[in-house]
Formats: sequence, C-alpha cells, structure tokens
Amino acid sequence: MCYHYCHKVFSDVSKGTLPLLAFFNEVMEMSKKVLEISGVSVEQLANACGTPLYVYDENKITQKMSQFHELFQSEDFETEVLYASKAFSCKAIVQMAAAHGLCLDVVSGGELYTAMQAGFPMEKIYFHGNNKTWDELIMALEAGIGCVVVDNAMECELLVKAAQRVGTTVRTLIRVNPGVEAHTHKYIVTAHLDSKFGISISRMEDIRNMIQTLTSIPNVTFEGFHSHIGSQIFDKDAYVAEIQTLMKFVNDMQKAYGITTKALNLGGGFAAYYTSEDHPIPLQEVCQTILDTCKWERDRYQLPLEKLMIEPGRSIVAEAGSTLYRIGYQKQTENKKYIFVDGGMSDNIRPALYQAAYACDIANRMDEEKSETVTVAGKCCESGDILVENVQLPHAQTNDLLILYTTGAYGYSMASNYNRLGRPAVVFVKDGKVRFVVKRETYEDMCKLECDEEIKV
Ligand code: LLP
Repeated sequence: MCYHYCHKVFSDVSKGTLPLLAFFNEVMEMSKKVLEISGVSVEQLANACGTPLYVYDENKITQKMSQFHELFQSEDFETEVLYASKAFSCKAIVQMAAAHGLCLDVVSGGELYTAMQAGFPMEKIYFHGNNKTWDELIMALEAGIGCVVVDNAMECELLVKAAQRVGTTVRTLIRVNPGVEAHTHKYIVTAHLDSKFGISISRMEDIRNMIQTLTSIPNVTFEGFHSHIGSQIFDKDAYVAEIQTLMKFVNDMQKAYGITTKALNLGGGFAAYYTSEDHPIPLQEVCQTILDTCKWERDRYQLPLEKLMIEPGRSIVAEAGSTLYRIGYQKQTENKKYIFVDGGMSDNIRPALYQAAYACDIANRMDEEKSETVTVAGKCCESGDILVENVQLPHAQTNDLLILYTTGAYGYSMASNYNRLGRPAVVFVKDGKVRFVVKRETYEDMCKLECDEEIKV
C-alpha cells in the first residue's frame, strides 16, 4: 500500500503577511516598533549577544513538551513521547525534555554523548540510525541505554555481539518500512519501499530471522516495531494509514510465526507552522487520532499490544526558535532588490537544500508599512544562499535587525562552518531573562582541532 501526501512547500510568503502577523502575535509580544521575545526586545538581544543569533522562547518549548506529554496519554496503552533530538540537540534542550517527562531519540554517538553530559536518564533513551558503528553500540550499551531501534539484519548480529561483550541488558525495536509515504519534499521522504531506513514489512521471513538473531541471547529482548513515515506531515490520514498497515503486519507476524508485538513506535513528523500556507494538524487532534486508531486496530485484530510511542522533533522546537540577523548592504539588480544579512545557509541550510519557505520581519520596524518586495540573501559564497525570496518588508537600513521565524528545528543542528563562518550562539529567553545555552563559535574554535602531528601507522 502506498499513499502520497504531497504538500506545496515552496510558497510566496509575501502573499500572507497579515495572517502571519496574526499568528506570530500569539507567540511574541510586539511593542509598537521593536519586536519582543518573552519580554526582551530584539534590539537588547542583538546588542548583548551579537548576531546572527538563534533565539528560543523557552515558554514555547515548555508548552509543546507538556502538551505532547499530556495529550499522548491513554487508558488503553502505556504511552511514551520521545523528543527526537536531531531537530535540535544541546544539553539545555535535553534537560528540558527530561524535566517534562519525555524520553529521548538519539541517532549517533554525539547525540548520545550530549544526553549523557546533560544527565538524561539512560533507560529512557532510544538509539536510532541505519549505520550504528561497533563503537557507538558499545558506548550505548556501556551507558545503559534503554532501547536500540535496530535498522537491518547486519545490525542485529553486531548488536548481539556487542551485548555479549558488555553483558548489560537492552530492549530492541525493529525499524520497519510500511511503504506509507508522507512528505513535503523528496529529500525528507524516509519510508518508501527503497528507503535506506528499516526493512520492508513485505519481507516477513527476514524480519522473523532478525528477531531470532536478537533474542538468541538472554540479555537482548525484542519489544516490537518502529516506523517513521516522513517529516512536516499535514495530513492526519497519513498516520491512520501507517497504523492500519502496521497493525495488519503485526497480526500477520503473529499468525505466521507466533511473534508477539508488545510495543509500537510510530515515529515523528508532526508539522510546524512556517508560513501562512502551512496548516499543521492541532496536536490534540493528531494525538487523539493516533490513540483512537491504535485502539480500534488493536481490538480489531485482538492484539496483545501494550505500549505506544511517538517521537516528535520539529513540532516541539521549530516555532519556539527564530534567527536574528543584522542587515548589511542592499543591492538593486535588474529584477530584484536584495537585502544581505550576516548569516545565511551556514546557519540555515533548509531554503537551499529543500526550497523551504520562511517568514520574516524587520524586527525593529514592526510598525512600518511593508512597502518593498525584497529577497533576503546570506553572506556565503554560493548563489543559492537565499533565505527568503520575494517578501514584502518595510524599507530597511543598514544595521536593522531581520528576524526569520520558525528556525528552531533543523537550523542549529544542520549548521556548518561553510566559508569559516562560526556557528551562531543560541539563547533561551524566558519572562525577561536571557541565558546563553550555546556560545558563539569563534575563529579560534574553528582552528582549534587543526594540527601538524606525525603519527605512526
Ligand atoms: N524519528 C525518526 C526515526 C526520524 O527519522 C525523524 C526525523 C524524527 C523522528 C523526527 O521527525 P520530526 O518530528 O522532526 O519531523 N532535516 C529535515 C528533516 C529530516 C527529518 C529526519 N527524520 C528538515 O530540515 O526538514
């Protein structure tokens, strides 16, 4: 079964300035002229912390984490919400996830290390990834990680060897590919039949063999299956299709091989609001749909399913974050007026990589008429380094502040040092108080790992 849920990502944000403002008014208070984030003006932020700057409204993160925690509760199942830390990983956010009772999804030794440094409870960590190395598996097992989400048959064998070596116990889920797609862009499709992730549910015998390998030693247990059908999903029917397909598969596995599935992890993908063209499914609605469909399907097949998990990343952090830039030069070409900012694709690769659309404002001219159509470009040596194309903004001056909204997910986490631009600092703002959670990367930082050392090979 294959469903296509395509949504238009690339939109002309200039058409939607009024509804956008109405939305962002909800999350940010606006003094007459200068935008404020949780009680702090962006001018103060830029002056005190420099630009470019990732700014998170901490209350917004708290709100999303608690909403997920509260809404994904059920009388019929044990439930867990995992924060997918790939969306934004640093100690501060991992600590917030712990404080709000969430579990954690990590996909690398680096994300795991960050969680360890943050003091996150190891038994609440799920280790994902299609190519975990021996060293990463040993690290995870030695740390006492709760669950490994196994991607493929070869990983089963390596994990069993690693678990024999370390001697600790670990739970496992197998990542399957239900062939249900939900995507807004081909690069973020993760569950078509030839996906690099997981194993297709049509390969039941191979899956049975994977389970046999895993459970060939007593310290590895098999709990159930995981699937993730895409990111920035706007249609809750995609989750219904995913659940229906998985439950039928679970039933087939039980009938064919007597395999009991206790747990299902349905992945993340809940959409965030970037521009007026986006209509994310309200969290209440999507959580309820998932829980109701799971109960319905479980009852239909009389399955012994006990536990459900979801793993949102973007929907927890995207809207809470914005990027603040200082405007430098401006330029008029034959057909375009450019505004240049002091960051770009190095701190936000998403427009260049996915043609992702963003909304922005001149944050110190919130009261002025949006009289010009401009293109906001970064300072990287790459023609594709455009942040927002053809947007209506007030007439800007050098040193004005441009704010790009909804950059809280996959912004910092996908940032690079291209052109040796240091990664921006990250600040959390809460009720008038500001704290650095990640410092700005300096020129020295960028040269820090360089050396000229002879090694014996
Ligand atoms: N679980 C798994 C197994 C995943 O692969 C992902 C994301 C998530 C959870 C979290 O999905 P979310 O709720 O954040 O949509 N770099 C792309 C997004 C890639 C998502 C990869 N997997 C972007 O910037 O749009």
